[in-house]
Amino acid sequence: MFDAKAFIENSLGEIKKTVGDNRVLSACSGGVDSTTATVLVHKAVGEKMSAVFIDDGLRREGEPEFTVETLKTLKVRTKFIDAKGEFFEALKGKTDAEEKRKAFREKFYKTLGKAAKEEKIDFIVQGTIKADVIETVKGIKSQHNVLEQIGINPQIYGYKILEPLKELFKPEVRMVARQLGLPKEISERMPFPGPALSLRVLGEVTAERTAIVRKATEIVEQETKSLDTFQNFAVLHNDKATGIKDGKRMYGNIITVRIVNSTDAVTAQATEVPYQLLTKISKRITSEIPTVVRCLYDITNKPPSTIEFE
Ligand code: XMP
Repeated sequence: MFDAKAFIENSLGEIKKTVGDNRVLSACSGGVDSTTATVLVHKAVGEKMSAVFIDDGLRREGEPEFTVETLKTLKVRTKFIDAKGEFFEALKGKTDAEEKRKAFREKFYKTLGKAAKEEKIDFIVQGTIKADVIETVKGIKSQHNVLEQIGINPQIYGYKILEPLKELFKPEVRMVARQLGLPKEISERMPFPGPALSLRVLGEVTAERTAIVRKATEIVEQETKSLDTFQNFAVLHNDKATGIKDGKRMYGNIITVRIVNSTDAVTAQATEVPYQLLTKISKRITSEIPTVVRCLYDITNKPPSTIEFE
């Protein structure tokens, strides 16, 4: 049985030893993994650490504000970097999932590298967990935060990496978060991929297409709050379908809703949600997002699917 208290005690000592007199910057997206890693390292080295939130334009509705506010409450000094334009520029014209991940990763680490240089930092903290490493090494998906494990030396970006959670799976990270006293909104937060909505905009990622999936995601999350599921989200398709809007034919967008159960994200089951709830979600998505004419529900498990479409 995993002992969160003992893990924390052990980690604090190890982190202190590794960091020494150096300075640390934590890349925090507001998710359970990166926030837990941030708070853990902050507890170990105090003011030697500050955090940075990079707004890549791909976050969910209200997420940048929520993250910055949460870190403020946790007394972590945080810098906000608005890099929206740069990320969309980097993703321009890219349609392949792995190419998009690579473009995201490059932009992410360059932005982080710039911040690290400005703040004269030696270490970057990341919330990498075991599942990220396993899937990347197996060649299933190259998680954006896995570098050394696939032979990329992070020092090319100008810093060393500290990954205090890399031996843990998600349920253990949540136990650590609870033990550290993090608010429920963080410890029980739904998983969200590092490259964020870019993986849920199939095909080219633009600001306009991201806005569509962001709105659909907001609707899905609002309507599924009471379900005790692992991950609930919306995906924007790259092709179009015929529909009717205002009594006229419209060749519009397609959204798929995915609601899965899982414990560690390694396998997952599509959830049997009440049909009435699906109908409500479909009605809201097609009426509140002008360009969407069709809404689908994904009934595939992992495997053979993955949780995300990309
Ligand atoms: P898949 O889609 O591989 O997802 O079944 C498993 C879990 O990982 C998340 N995911 C990612 N997280 N970078 C991340 O940080 C990524 O590139 C990435 N791809 C998938 C996914 O949301 C799920 O929780």
